[in-house]
This record gives sequence, structure tokens and C-alpha cells, in this order.
Amino acid sequence: MARLTTRAVTSRADVIEYFDALASGYTEAHGSAHRLLTCRLGVIRQLLAGAPQGILLEIGCGTAVHALALAGDFTTVIGTDISPAMIDVARSRARLAGHAARVCFRVDPAEELTTVADHSIDVVLCVGALEHMPSKGRVLGQVRRVLQPGGRLICLTPNGGYCWYKHLAPLLRREVRHLSTDQFLTGAQLEAHLTGAGLETVERRLWTFVPRGDLPAGVGPILAALDWFGRRAGVDSLRGGIAVAAQPTARDRAGRPDRRSDL
Ligand SMILES: C[S@@+](CC[C@H](N)C(=O)[O-])C[C@H]1O[C@@H](n2cnc3c(N)ncnc32)[C@H](O)[C@@H]1O
Repeated sequence: MARLTTRAVTSRADVIEYFDALASGYTEAHGSAHRLLTCRLGVIRQLLAGAPQGILLEIGCGTAVHALALAGDFTTVIGTDISPAMIDVARSRARLAGHAARVCFRVDPAEELTTVADHSIDVVLCVGALEHMPSKGRVLGQVRRVLQPGGRLICLTPNGGYCWYKHLAPLLRREVRHLSTDQFLTGAQLEAHLTGAGLETVERRLWTFVPRGDLPAGVGPILAALDWFGRRAGVDSLRGGIAVAAQPTARDRAGRPDRRSDL
């Protein structure tokens, strides 16, 4: 396995070039694709409980692994991504899966979402992509804009407080970021971004994410064992993934200030 080296990026064009080059051969990098998809879908469906399931928008959808797997749960699915090559692959996969009528994919950076109308979306999904988006405030501001008042954001992203990222990788002098603009948020940092964008957390939890594709030989099983222990003992720093469900704050849901704050 090649050693991970962080690629320096200085512009949006650099980011697009990086993901365009990955698109045609894009596969799960961190273990069994089937097992990881099943695990992520389980987390997503738990966080979806009680959410309206009309229109799903996945931002940073890549080749649409999650959007297509969830297509049967929603009436309409929209996938957006900054990379034209990822969107080409997503469209081909949708045609092959026979979903072309209810699913559409568009090149549209998450900081802009110019193709998505205000308050038109029931659920926004973001999986393994927020960490690659440098302007998180702008992205979450767009999420809040496009969500309908009772809508929900579900975001799965690496845990910035994970022992591998914070302690072990620096100790072993290993890179953890693919792009120099990548940033892994702690739970508290993610919640601060959500609040700043007018979104409130419905639920935040940790999930099993071991970045096996990025690790030196022999470290994966150790991190998997630490995750197992962390899950049982409730030690957040031993868990690699954060999953959050959030909704527009009461002020935004009602279009006026939250009356409870007047009491
Ligand atoms: C690691 S891939 C994950 C793709 C997909 N969500 C999945 O889980 O298979 C990250 C994706 O985010 C996209 N991306 C990165 N920055 C973006 C941005 N600013 N706006 C929209 N998409 C972006 C990339 O092009 C890439 O397809």
C-alpha cells in the first residue's frame, strides 16, 4: 500500500483535478465496500428516523454510492458534486441501476448549490465529503437555505478528535490528509459550524470508521480493536467517525424568532 502523502492544493481547480482523476476507478479505500456501505446506511437510516422522505439531496455525492442505495427510500434523489467526472460516473451508474427517472446528478459546488431552490429539500446527505470542503460555513449556509423547514441534514465525516489523527499519526510522522485543504472537525467544532449556519443538532453519535486505506501496515487491526473498546466504554477519541443529524433552528423553521426565548 502506497504511503499517504498530502497533495498541496491552492485553488478549486486543483480540487476538481484531484477528484476528476479518481472518478473512473473510484472504489472504497478503507475495507470491504459491501460491509462499509451496510454500516454507513445503517447509521444514515437511524438518523433519518422521523425525517420527511420526499426529496433527498446528496452533496459531494461522488459516484453516488449512497444516493443510489437510498433511492428506494425517497421519491426523488438529487446528487451534486464539484467534479464533472464524478457526476458522469454517477449518471452512468444511475442508468445501469434503472433509477434514471427519479434520480438526477448535477455539477454544483456545495458552497453554491445554484441549481437547488430555497426550502425545496427534505433531507441533505453529506458522506465523506465535508472534510474536503474548506468553506464549511458557506456549505452549511447553503444546506440551511435549501432545506425545507422540517428538513434534516445528515452528515458522516471523520472525527477530528480521533486518536489516530490527533496523536498516533503525528507520533509516527504519517500524513492523514489527502489534500492540504482537508480538515477533520471534532464534534464540538462541527456543532459550532452547524449553530453558526442556523442548524441545530438533533443527534450526534460516533460510528466505526477505521481509515485502513491510509494506514501503515499493522495499524488497522489495532485501531479496529481500539474502536471496539471505545464503542463499549464510550471513549470518543477511539472512534474514527462522527455522524450528525441537524435541522433548521426553530427561528428558521418558523421564519421568525423562537418564541420560547421570550419566556
Ligand atoms: C471522498 S469522495 C466521497 C464521495 C461520496 N460521498 C461517497 O461517500 O462515496 C468526496 C467527494 O466530495 C466532492 N467534493 C469535494 N469538494 C467539494 C465541494 N466543494 N463541493 C461539492 N463536492 C465536493 C469530491 O469531488 C468527491 O466526489
